[in-house]
Amino acid sequence: MTDTKKSIHGEWSSRSAFILAATGSAVGLGNIWKFPYITGEHGGGAFVIVYLLCVALIGIPIMIAETLLGRRGRENPVNTMQLLSAEAEQDPRWQYVGWVGMAAGLLILSYYSVIAGWASAYVFKAFTGSFFNADAAAIKQLFSDFIGSPLQLIFWHTLFMAATLFIVARGVDKGLEKSVRILMPGLFILLILLVMYAMTTSGYFQGIHFLFSFDFSKLTGNAILIAMGQAFFSLGLGMGCVMAYGAYLPNDISIAKTSIIIAAVDTLVALLAGIIIFPIVFTYQLNPGSGPGLIFETLPIAFGTMTGGWLFGVLFFIILVFAALSSAIALIEPTVSWLVENRGISRQRASLQAGGIAWLIGLATVFSFNAWAAFKPFGLTLFDLIDYVTANLMLPLGGLAIAIFVGWKMKQQHSAQELNIVDPEYFKLWLMLTKYLAPAAVFLVFLHVVGVL
Ligand code: PHE
Repeated sequence: MTDTKKSIHGEWSSRSAFILAATGSAVGLGNIWKFPYITGEHGGGAFVIVYLLCVALIGIPIMIAETLLGRRGRENPVNTMQLLSAEAEQDPRWQYVGWVGMAAGLLILSYYSVIAGWASAYVFKAFTGSFFNADAAAIKQLFSDFIGSPLQLIFWHTLFMAATLFIVARGVDKGLEKSVRILMPGLFILLILLVMYAMTTSGYFQGIHFLFSFDFSKLTGNAILIAMGQAFFSLGLGMGCVMAYGAYLPNDISIAKTSIIIAAVDTLVALLAGIIIFPIVFTYQLNPGSGPGLIFETLPIAFGTMTGGWLFGVLFFIILVFAALSSAIALIEPTVSWLVENRGISRQRASLQAGGIAWLIGLATVFSFNAWAAFKPFGLTLFDLIDYVTANLMLPLGGLAIAIFVGWKMKQQHSAQELNIVDPEYFKLWLMLTKYLAPAAVFLVFLHVVGVL
């Protein structure tokens, strides 16, 4: 709140450290696993356009708003919202933004860890040559045998959660900052290599067509909600995690510029993943709408047939696991920082408690693919239900609250002071988007889904 206040957890060492950590949080399974499969389920092009609009018009302004709240409050999301609502002479109940965010983070982490566990298992499968010369049917079988086994899923889920907690418990600065510095460029290079592979497949143009040609007739209200939810999910917005990272951001760094860079990289990675996966889907006559297994049923075919595929396969899944790790630690950070700041326990204990809860809830996702696959409240498996409620309801609602708070409740001189944008026109543009467009868009999408519009 004052210029000199610092978070008790320390600060990012530089602008690039923050960009890396925040990009690490944004780029994850959401880009490589989720974006392609939900795009596939919703017919491709038109869905992608809506997604891009949501990132640009809703995502970026809210990301700027959430970061500035974090940096001004410099504490965990609950306390930050308490402090800032007091500063703005508003209702203290704004702190619920922080509470709902923490809950969303743990719920998302619960299934995130299970899916990241799949990616970990696939490092092992790639390493032992399971994909070698396998055809599409064999790769599909491999995947369905794997997710059919709760014990295997629990094993990898536990391993991934343990790795996450280990990093979080040690504190974020050293281990993660360093590994992300190497892994993010590595991820990029591998994606480019795979794009080059995709260009050699016979389904390349069909894949590109699917991804970029827009047939708006396929777009339902629910698909628009899902595209918006995906924008929140992929940018990691609306649940206090950007706020928590913003709390460690030094005062002299431009929030607007860094947010735009992070959103651009995040979007690029998602598009590259799509450009890789859909050509393979069409080359092997797979179903683009086959759901959460999509990357596990497509990429191994490429690795099994391309030159150097063994090495690329191992590297790709390793990098995917690391991309997931740098997101998982962001998902748990709001709760951990709350436990440390408000309960006075050590980071180690806090990680163990928060991670333990997420691990336990994760079992519901594990069983959604086997023992409880037929249990479908509201027509969705427990995994789908948790995913739907968090990404499509909790995150956009959190984002809506953040936009309203920053746009309408907070004193404008305070937001201007945090953003420190030199050109007043840009500040005005951001304020307009945050005050009117972003909240109105989220609201309209909700109305549309409940059938009012
Ligand atoms: N953005 C991450 C991804 O795309 C997931 C995430 C969501 C991380 C919310 C932090 C907060 O994989």
